[in-house]
Amino acid sequence: MARKKQFKTITGMADIMPTDYKIWKEVEEVITAIANFYDFARISTPILEDEDLFVKGTGQSTEVIEKQMFSFRTKGKEKVVLRPEFTPSIIRAYIENGLESRQKPVKLWTLGPLFRYEKPQKGRYRQFHQFDFEIIGDAASATDALLIQLLLNILERLGLKNWRLEVNSIGCQECRPHYLKQLKKYYNERKKHLCADCKKRLEKNPLRVLDCKEEKCQRVKKTAPQIVNSLCQECYKHFHSLLEFLDAMGISYILNPYLVRGLDYYEKTVFEIMPEEENNRQGTLIGGGRYDKLIEQLGGKPTPAVGAAGGMERIIEIIKEENLHPNIQRRVFESFENPPQIFLVQLGDLAKKKILKLIEEFKKNGIKVAQNIGKDNLKSQLQLASKMKVKYSLILGQREVLEDTIIVRDMENSIQEVLPQKGIIKEIKKRIKELK
Ligand code: HAM
Repeated sequence: MARKKQFKTITGMADIMPTDYKIWKEVEEVITAIANFYDFARISTPILEDEDLFVKGTGQSTEVIEKQMFSFRTKGKEKVVLRPEFTPSIIRAYIENGLESRQKPVKLWTLGPLFRYEKPQKGRYRQFHQFDFEIIGDAASATDALLIQLLLNILERLGLKNWRLEVNSIGCQECRPHYLKQLKKYYNERKKHLCADCKKRLEKNPLRVLDCKEEKCQRVKKTAPQIVNSLCQECYKHFHSLLEFLDAMGISYILNPYLVRGLDYYEKTVFEIMPEEENNRQGTLIGGGRYDKLIEQLGGKPTPAVGAAGGMERIIEIIKEENLHPNIQRRVFESFENPPQIFLVQLGDLAKKKILKLIEEFKKNGIKVAQNIGKDNLKSQLQLASKMKVKYSLILGQREVLEDTIIVRDMENSIQEVLPQKGIIKEIKKRIKELK
C-alpha cells in the first residue's frame, strides 16, 4: 500500500506556533507603542505587487532583484512578485492614494511578511517579517537622527542591549560618480583577487563589491578608497551634522566607510544595527537610510525621504536565546494612542540637539510629545502645533539653550512664560494632570 504523503512547509518558510505567539505579540506591542509615540500612521499594502515596481524601485542590479524574487505571471498574464521589501510598496501607496498633498513629513509604518529566494540558514528565510518605518518629505539630518533614536528605542524596550550601530554616507548623484570612478580603478587593478561575482559586479554596480562577504574580497576592500573623502559639500555637511546629533544624544556609533547596503535607492545616510559580537550568526537586525530620489523615480513629485526596517525573526530569535523580557507598560502604551498635548518647537542646531534629548525624557515619563525636528522656522512649527490642537508648545531657541530656560506657550491664549529647563518635565506632568 502506498504510504501517505507527509506535507511540510516550503523550504525557508516557517509556521509561527502558539508557543511563540506570546513573544510575537509583545514585540508587536512594543513596535506599535513606539510608532504611536512618534506619531506614525499604520499602513498595509498587498503582498502581491507589479514586478516592475521593485525592478525600478529596489534596482535592477541588486541581489534582491537579480536572484531573490518570487515572480510569476497571473492567469491574466500580469508579471507579479511576492514583495521582497516594503519601501517601494509604501511609496507606491503614498503616490497612488494622494498622500502627496498631506502636510509633510508623512510618517508611515507597517509590519508583515516579505519574500526573498535566499539560501535558508539561521536568521535568513524565504518568508520573513519586517517592521518598517518611512518618513516622507523631510531632508534634514535631524530627522535621520530621530529615526535612529526611534529604532534604538524599540530594541531597548525589547531588552536588547548588545547592539552596534554602523553609519555611513554614500553621497548623492552629484558626488557618487566621482567616487565610483576611483573605486572601479582601484578594483580593476586588483581584479584577479576578486570572486567571480564581484568581477561581474564591478561592471554593473561597483558599490556592491564593497558589500561582498567573500574573504578574498574583504581583504581587497581593506585599502579601498572611502566615499567619505569624495562627498560633495552638501552631503558632507548633512553627514557631519547627523554625527553631531548622534553624539549629542549619547548614541554610540561606528563610522563604517564601506557600509553601502544592498538596495539601489539610497543616498546620503545609510545605517545598520547589528548584534554587538562580530560573529553573531543572526546578521543585521535593522537596516535603513535616506532615499531622496525614489519618490520621483516612481512617478511622484521630487520628495526627500528616509526609512528603515527591522527583521522580526532575527530579533525574536535573540529574545528567545537570551531569555529577554520586553518592557510592556500597557497603560503608558495606551496613552501613546491619544493625540499629544505638548509640541516641542526648536530653533537652530543647538536647540534641535536639546529637543532630541527632551523627546527621550518625555517618553521615559510616559508623556507623548509632538515635534517637527526637520523644520527651522518658528511660525510653521507653531502653526502645526495649533493644527494639532496641543495645549502647550515648549519653545527652545539659541538663547534659551544658553540660559538653560524654555518658553512655555499656552496655545489657547498665547500667553508665554519662561521657565528653567530643569524640572520642566515635572512641571508639564503636573499641568497635564490638572487638565484631566
Ligand atoms: P534590508 O536591509 O533588505 O532593508 O532588510 C532589513 C532587515 O530585514 C534586515 O536587517 C534583516 O533583519 C531583515 N531581513 C532581510 N532579509 C531577511 C531574510 N531573508 N530573512 C530574515 N530576515 C531578513 C530593507 O528591506 C529596506 N526596505 C529598509 C528600508 C526602509 N530602507 C528605507 N526604508
